[in-house]
Amino acid sequence: MENEARASGTPGTVGPGAALPPLDTPRLLIRGRTLDDLEACLAMDRDPEVTRYIKGPWNDPVEHRRFLEFRITRPYPPGLGYWSIRERAAPEVFLGWVMLIPDHGVGPEVEIGWRLVRAAWGRGIASEAARVLATHAFDTVKLPRVIADIHPENKASRAVAERIGMRLVTLSRDDEGEACARYRSQRSDR
Ligand SMILES: CC(C)(COP(=O)(O)OP(=O)(O)OC[C@H]1O[C@@H](n2cnc3c(N)ncnc32)[C@H](O)[C@@H]1OP(=O)(O)O)[C@@H](O)C(=O)NCCC(=O)NCCS
Repeated sequence: MENEARASGTPGTVGPGAALPPLDTPRLLIRGRTLDDLEACLAMDRDPEVTRYIKGPWNDPVEHRRFLEFRITRPYPPGLGYWSIRERAAPEVFLGWVMLIPDHGVGPEVEIGWRLVRAAWGRGIASEAARVLATHAFDTVKLPRVIADIHPENKASRAVAERIGMRLVTLSRDDEGEACARYRSQRSDR
């Protein structure tokens, strides 16, 4: 089944991501992330340019796999989770993901985020997927607001936040003392 799904480019079926609604656009297939995407996600994170501004167990293969399996299989509140991105023109190729998850895993704020393989940068794919995810967050899940915490030097990610209409609210340090630009978008501002 897993191989069949990969070969045909159909969305995976393993994990709670299979229950998330598709957020497809004319160019992109944006489907709930499942364990079918595990290896592609691990490979993406092993590119040091991709994880340059993101803390995580990227250099510990055992912990990295455990971390990712947990993130893919744990339950999220209704309508929240991770979506994998592919192009309609090449549905077998994993391009990255967008997420909408409780901040630090617990909330109450909900964080929106994005990560793409390097080959997919510079084509507007992250902003296109993030825009449709923000619409889902406000119109379907009815969230009052979403936030994004971004390393201040991560210009590409800050540009995505700004392109989808998020506003910079604080430029400070996070709980672990790391510099952090917090962006926010509110349903009432739309
Ligand atoms: C952050 C990240 C997702 C941004 O990706 P991106 O491709 O730069 O973002 P977008 O989808 O908004 O694409 C914008 C670029 O595509 C270009 N583009 C090309 N075709 C386009 C189109 N049809 N529509 C829109 N933009 C297009 C834009 O001009 C812009 O190029 P520029 O950066 O040279 O100005 C990517 O850098 C990444 O995955 N980084 C590593 C992970 C990471 O840091 N995640 C965020 C953690 S907070």
